[in-house]
Amino acid sequence: MQLSSTLPFSQASENNKLPILEILRPHLTEVHSVLEIGSGTGQHGEFFVDQFPALNWNCSDIPSNISLTNQRITARGLANFPEAIALDVNEPIWNCGFHDCVFSANSLHIMSEISVTSFFRGLYQCLTKNGLLFLYGPFKYGGEFTTESNAHFDDWLKQKDPLSGIRDFETIMKLATDAGLMFLEDNPMPANNQLLLFKLL
Ligand SMILES: C[S@@+](CC[C@H](N)C(=O)[O-])C[C@H]1O[C@@H](n2cnc3c(N)ncnc32)[C@H](O)[C@@H]1O
Repeated sequence: MQLSSTLPFSQASENNKLPILEILRPHLTEVHSVLEIGSGTGQHGEFFVDQFPALNWNCSDIPSNISLTNQRITARGLANFPEAIALDVNEPIWNCGFHDCVFSANSLHIMSEISVTSFFRGLYQCLTKNGLLFLYGPFKYGGEFTTESNAHFDDWLKQKDPLSGIRDFETIMKLATDAGLMFLEDNPMPANNQLLLFKLL
């Protein structure tokens, strides 16, 4: 993340928000409230509430990142884009309320494997029955990276934090199934990313 003008800014979020919108658009017309896990700069929420003024978008992040996420939220001052919730997926209790959609972008490869497991184990605390889960980011399939650049990205991530890394699609499927989620879509996205969609049964 870098600072652009006065607000925290991620160029990746700026690049991927439109392609993500195209996938989310038909679903978000039906959704009332989104919980975003690992919101970072808050750019996705800001963009999606502008597109869907009737949608409530609830950002969250780990406690040490909350003030960063709240900078953009405070600057906008929108009723449907409230202050971010402090949420570390490793905590046993998520004080997150219930939502009919959970969205998370570029977070699973930053989290450790244990945190990714906690992510799926905790979802029941915030996602309503028939609620949707969108996961954006890079994944491996059959243990293979989809591209050489994703392999380099994985090396780079692990140099910064050996516990991080691009996750196996099959592992995500298993964790999702164990959490009571039904797999609906795997959408290929620009820059070697995917947008996965699940529904809570
Ligand atoms: C690469 S950033 C992505 C931020 C934003 N979603 C985006 O697409 O620009 C990864 C985010 O995951 C969050 N994160 C890392 N570990 C977490 C955890 N245990 N629980 C919740 N969020 C976590 C980080 O604080 C960070 O905001």
